[in-house]
Amino acid sequence: MSIRVADFFAGGGGLSLGFQQAGFDIVCAVENWRPAIDVYRANFPNHPTVSLDLSNELETLRLLDDYRPDAIIGGPPCQDFSSAGKRDESGGRASLTISFANVISNYRPSFFLMENVGRAASSQAFKVALDIFKRANYGLTIQLLNAAHCGVPQSRKRLIVIGQLGGRDGFLDAALTSGLSENPLTLREYFSDGLPFEHYYRHPRSYARRGVFSIDEPSPTIRGVNRPIPKGYLGHPGDSVSVTGQLRPLTTRERACIQTFPEDFQLAGSKSDLEQVIGNAVPVKLAHYVASRLAHYINENNDAGNLPWSDQLFEPRAAKMCQVVHGSHSENDGVSPAPTSIATSSSHPPPQRQTIRRA
Ligand SMILES: C[S@@+](CC[C@H](N)C(=O)[O-])C[C@H]1O[C@@H](n2cnc3c(N)ncnc32)[C@H](O)[C@@H]1O
Repeated sequence: MSIRVADFFAGGGGLSLGFQQAGFDIVCAVENWRPAIDVYRANFPNHPTVSLDLSNELETLRLLDDYRPDAIIGGPPCQDFSSAGKRDESGGRASLTISFANVISNYRPSFFLMENVGRAASSQAFKVALDIFKRANYGLTIQLLNAAHCGVPQSRKRLIVIGQLGGRDGFLDAALTSGLSENPLTLREYFSDGLPFEHYYRHPRSYARRGVFSIDEPSPTIRGVNRPIPKGYLGHPGDSVSVTGQLRPLTTRERACIQTFPEDFQLAGSKSDLEQVIGNAVPVKLAHYVASRLAHYINENNDAGNLPWSDQLFEPRAAKMCQVVHGSHSENDGVSPAPTSIATSSSHPPPQRQTIRRA
């Protein structure tokens, strides 16, 4: 037996995969954008991917009655909070955070996880959501985690809220902070010899920022768009090298690998949709970092008789935690070996369906 989980706003499944690898049983995923649903279904054929608008709280509660999850996880869309997008909470999408909280407080799963950009913490919608969780008797752990300290070779800060019904505030704080690596993980450390370049281009949001990065640092945040080097790019004092003919942007597959999707993760769809699905995702190893600590907490408390399940919940292998030490990481869960490598094609992948390189 293991904990039944529903993944809301499931995207291509970064959060689902990390939880699944930590031993949770994903029983359904909910998403309403067709390209994301297609990617999700291709990679998770063993549970349903439901197409539903999660602002419809009644329909969502009906769906939960069908699947009866013990936990709900989800990253409501973040455009309205994101520093990359507009910051207008009246755009409607921020209210999905409140819908998520309403559904949690009505259905009352034993645990939930909500993921968002750091900026969300200062938003009105987030404050309202926290109030809803508290009134529904959830103890909350709230942390801003940088993926680069959780086994992901990417600087990506994400706000994680984990709730336990009837739990105490901060119940997972120590577990989440104690495993962080001292140094951020670099691309070279993660991929070892698997990268066919030393420097690459990542289009900056403005030319006040750098666009050229070295593999001896974590990558900047993988966003939803991936642009070629514009002819007029003049360089930036912070660039790791000058722009030469050798320099190129990352391929779609390379970006997926930096988001710590496995090499055989199926990427089917148009290039622009896939870039968006990949950029939206919670890095798999960040999800696994959090999920494995939650699994450990649940196991310990269940064994002590503090939780309602009567059985051993997680396989011993799955309950083990990902060790992240001093800027390098080693997986001791037997799920996916590190370091990893990626396809060495130096050309940008074609805009249609991609060839999937199988391990
Ligand atoms: C931040 S992404 C989630 C990424 C996902 N957790 C992952 O790890 O891959 C948010 C997702 O919410 C979906 N979404 C936006 N509005 C929605 C709605 N009203 N109902 C259902 N899904 C929605 C978007 O299509 C997007 O895929």
